[in-house]
Amino acid sequence: MKKGVKIVTIGGGSSYTPELVEGFIKRFDELPIRELWLVDIEAGREKLEIVGAMAKRMVEAAGIDCEVHLTLDRRAALKDADFVTTQFRVGLLDARIKDESIPLKHGIIGQETNGAGGMFKAFRTIPVILSIVEDMKELCPNAWLINFTNPAGMVTEAVLRYGKWDKVIGLCNVPIGAIKSASDVLKKPEEDLFFKFAGINHLHWHRIFDKDGTELTEQVIDGLYAPDANPEKVVENIKNMRFLYEQVRNLKMLPCPYHRYYYMTDDMLKEELEAFKTEGSRGQVVKRLEESLFELYKDPNLDHKPEELSKRGGAHYSDAACEIINSIYNNKGTMMVVSTRNNGAIDDVPYDSAIEITSVIRAHGAEPVNFGKFPPAQRGLLQVMKAMEELTIEAAVTGNYDTALQAFTLNPIVPSGDIAQTVLDELLEAHKEHLPQFFTKVEA
Ligand code: G6P
Repeated sequence: MKKGVKIVTIGGGSSYTPELVEGFIKRFDELPIRELWLVDIEAGREKLEIVGAMAKRMVEAAGIDCEVHLTLDRRAALKDADFVTTQFRVGLLDARIKDESIPLKHGIIGQETNGAGGMFKAFRTIPVILSIVEDMKELCPNAWLINFTNPAGMVTEAVLRYGKWDKVIGLCNVPIGAIKSASDVLKKPEEDLFFKFAGINHLHWHRIFDKDGTELTEQVIDGLYAPDANPEKVVENIKNMRFLYEQVRNLKMLPCPYHRYYYMTDDMLKEELEAFKTEGSRGQVVKRLEESLFELYKDPNLDHKPEELSKRGGAHYSDAACEIINSIYNNKGTMMVVSTRNNGAIDDVPYDSAIEITSVIRAHGAEPVNFGKFPPAQRGLLQVMKAMEELTIEAAVTGNYDTALQAFTLNPIVPSGDIAQTVLDELLEAHKEHLPQFFTKVEA
């Protein structure tokens, strides 16, 4: 018999789990979670046990009545769940390191969410999320799926389009960082500002308005990117390299940090190649960071989220997931930036694609705030990337090599022709174990 709200977290052994637990503890009065199931696979057992023990200590120290279960049995956990959150990484960090390093060895950007690496992460992740959805249909047909596994936009679209599962919301922390940095530049509290975001995950733009309706976007562009500005980083994993001021000013919208990969491709590549030679790829840096985080988590006296977790690029992700769950559970109508089905909110991309947009979160899910049309400068890039996403998702589902090669060719940060094919082939070989759809031949 289930006791109160039941949450299941797949990829529960993640180093981000303490933030999730902290987020639930903070909201316990409004969101009485009685069961939290942290699920992982055999390869993640050790991490699950360490971080799971820490989660239990956190809950105990908070004095809340919530059971924390650790399991490798996903189906047992999913039974009668109310919310399922997903934060897993197929192939663990070693797969990410290959995603980033193989392209870099060929002198091209790897990038684990929007470059060649991100496309491979989609190939590995989409079949798994679709199998989770199939389990949910059977075991918890009324549950919500809150996904923050990357590439979050493509994963959300795969769930909607191929999983035929509507109760899904995808989530990213970039908008949270962007809101904070604008509020710092304007020296105004976030609650006094209105942010209008639209685009897709890791490729959205936003405008900012004051309480009286005055637009403040250009003021923030000046504050962040004018030649004499000195802004903070929005996310830890992307260097705060200056955008070309004149170009960004002309957009009349603020780009997200990932726009640097498209607007300043050569500078980003140069920077990544240099970092690769000295500290390794970002995945290698993160692996070292994770090792020290897990050493901390082993401390039997540690019962709160350590400050060191903020060095990860995904800080605030899990807290935002808790807020979405809270908003659905209590029909709060909170405004959040999420990945959800377009339904015509952005004119320039297909009706049934996932977009990332300012939305109102209620018991029935995310209601996007209508955006309309983008000017050509944004529209062109958005449509290319959306088509690249569609092809990538299709290739992930079908295992069709030609579709994968088209997706590679279309991605603006993957060079086309021979080099695209060489990198595609090498990545396929390197990830063979996790990509059966590309290698299993169905006998006629
Ligand atoms: C950003 C992105 C996330 C991504 C993270 C990577 O915050 O929004 O989607 O997961 O960076 O951070 P990491 O510390 O793993 O490089």
